Amino acid sequence: MWRFCSSVKTNQGTVNTLLLSFTTNLLANPAIRKLSSVLTRNRFAGMLPTADAKYENVDLYAPPAFVRGMTKLNREAFKKSVSVPALRVKKEIINKLMKSLKSVALQRPGVKRVVEDPNDENHKLVLLDPYKISTGVSFGEPEKNVLKEHNVSAEIHKYNLEMTYENFKCEEILRAVLPEGQDVTSGFSRVGHIAHMNLREHQLPYKHLIGDVIIDKNPGVTSVVNKTNTIDSTYRNFQMEVLAGLEDMVAKVRENNVTYEFDFSKVYWNPRLSTEHERIVQLLKSGDLVFDVFAGVGPFAIPAAKKKCIVFANDLNPESHKWLQHNCKLNKVDQRVNLFNLDGRDFITNIVKGQLTKLLNTGTEQNCGIHIIMNLPALAVQFLDAFKNLLEEPDTSQAVLPHIHCYSFSKQDDPAEDVMKQAEDVLNCELRRHCSVHLVRNVAPNKEMVCITFQIPGEVIFQKQKASKDVLEEPKSKRLKTSNTVSEDQGVS
Ligand SMILES: C[S@@+](CC[C@H](N)C(=O)[O-])C[C@H]1O[C@@H](n2cnc3c(N)ncnc32)[C@H](O)[C@@H]1O
Repeated sequence: MWRFCSSVKTNQGTVNTLLLSFTTNLLANPAIRKLSSVLTRNRFAGMLPTADAKYENVDLYAPPAFVRGMTKLNREAFKKSVSVPALRVKKEIINKLMKSLKSVALQRPGVKRVVEDPNDENHKLVLLDPYKISTGVSFGEPEKNVLKEHNVSAEIHKYNLEMTYENFKCEEILRAVLPEGQDVTSGFSRVGHIAHMNLREHQLPYKHLIGDVIIDKNPGVTSVVNKTNTIDSTYRNFQMEVLAGLEDMVAKVRENNVTYEFDFSKVYWNPRLSTEHERIVQLLKSGDLVFDVFAGVGPFAIPAAKKKCIVFANDLNPESHKWLQHNCKLNKVDQRVNLFNLDGRDFITNIVKGQLTKLLNTGTEQNCGIHIIMNLPALAVQFLDAFKNLLEEPDTSQAVLPHIHCYSFSKQDDPAEDVMKQAEDVLNCELRRHCSVHLVRNVAPNKEMVCITFQIPGEVIFQKQKASKDVLEEPKSKRLKTSNTVSEDQGVS
C-alpha cells in the first residue's frame, strides 16, 4: 500500500511544487497523460518541472479524472498515487512531536499520519499536509522551535501515498463522478438507519451510485431513499424509492430523549422539527389537558404524556395511528394517552368537545391548562372553524379557555402577519392582541412554517345565543379565566 519515494532534488534547491505521481490506470485521461509525461521528463532530468507544468492547480485530493460519468460504483477505480511531504523523525521522539505538528500533519479519512520509514527502521515518517508544507521553510515558528528542540531536521522528504476509495470524502467522490460544473448534493436527512435525499434531475442517472457512496461514508446509514413526489399526500408521507441498501423502512429514532419507531415510507416524520416539538412541550405543565389533532407518530403527544399531561392524540392515517400506539407502549405512557383515528374535524367536534364539556361542567375550579396542537401546516388553519360555537357556555365563572397552537405556511413578506390574518379570517374575530407568533423554519425559498398560539376567544367557542345572553349579564372579562401557560404578550418571536 505505502511506497516510499526517494526525495527528488531540484536545481533550485527547494521543492516548491507538489509532485504528483499517478498510477498507470490514470493514463487513460489525456490531460493526466500530458501532466505525467512532463513529470517523468523532469524526473529523468533530475529536477522538478517548472512553469510549463501547471499542476499547482491540480486538486491533489480529486479522485482520478476517468471516474467522471461512472454510474455503477467501482471502488477500485479510485486508486491514485500522490506524492506528499514527509518529515523523518526518530521513533522514540515521535509521540512528543506529534502534538506540535498536528496542525500541519496530513488529514485524510483512513490515512495514518505516521508510517514506517522503509529505509530505516529507527525512523518513522510524519506525513504532512501538502497544502501547508512544501519545504522546510513552510513551517511556522512554533513547529520550527519544536523541531529544533528535538534536534529534528526540517528537511522534507517525499512519500508516495497510495490513495484508495476509502481515503476520499463523500463530496470529493460525487464531485468527481457527477457532470462537471453541476451541483453535487450529498446532503440528506437522517431518519434512523435511513438517509433521505431529494435528488435533482441531473443527479438521477447517478442515483444508485450516490446511494452506495452515502452508505459507505456514513456509519450507521444502511438505507438510502430518494423522495419521488412532493409532499402533497393526505397523510404527509413521501413516496420514495430505495436507491441503495436495505429495503427495510422501519426506523428507530431518538428525539428529545424519546424513542420512536415507525415505517418511514408510510408516515410523516421530519427530523427538522425536533426543536419545535421541544418548544411546545416546554409550555406544558403536569396535569394539563393536551389535544393533538394531527399527532403523527407522537412527537408532541408522547413527551407531553411523559410530562404527566393527559393526552388525546389523533391521526387520520391508520399507519400513524398504529405506530403512535406502538410508541406510547414503547415509552410506557399508554395509560396517559387516549388514541383516535379520526379526521381532525371529527376529532374536534366530538372528542375535544366532549372532554371540554365534561371539564367545564364539573363545577370545580379548573387548575389545568388546555392545549390544542394542530400541526398540519398546509391545512390546519382551515380546521379552526370547527371551534366556532363548539361549546355551550358553562355556568362557572372559572372556565379556562384552550390555547391553540396552529401551524401554517406563508409565502408572504410578513409571514407572522399573514398567518394571523389567515386565522382571523377563518374565525371571523380579532386575534392579534392575544396571539403569539413563532417562525418555525424556512421550508423553501420564500416559504416559512409558522406557529400561532392564541387562547380561543369565548365569543368564538361558545354558542352564540348563550354568549349573547351572558354578555347582558356580565362582562366576558369577568367570566373567563385566562391561564398563564402562554403569556398573552409574548409577541412575535
Ligand atoms: C405534518 S404531519 C405532523 C405530525 C406530527 N404532529 C409531527 O409533528 O411530526 C401531519 C399529520 O396529520 C395527519 N393528517 C393529515 N390529514 C389529516 C386529517 N384530515 N385529520 C387528521 N389527521 C390528518 C397526517 O397523517 C400526518 O401524520
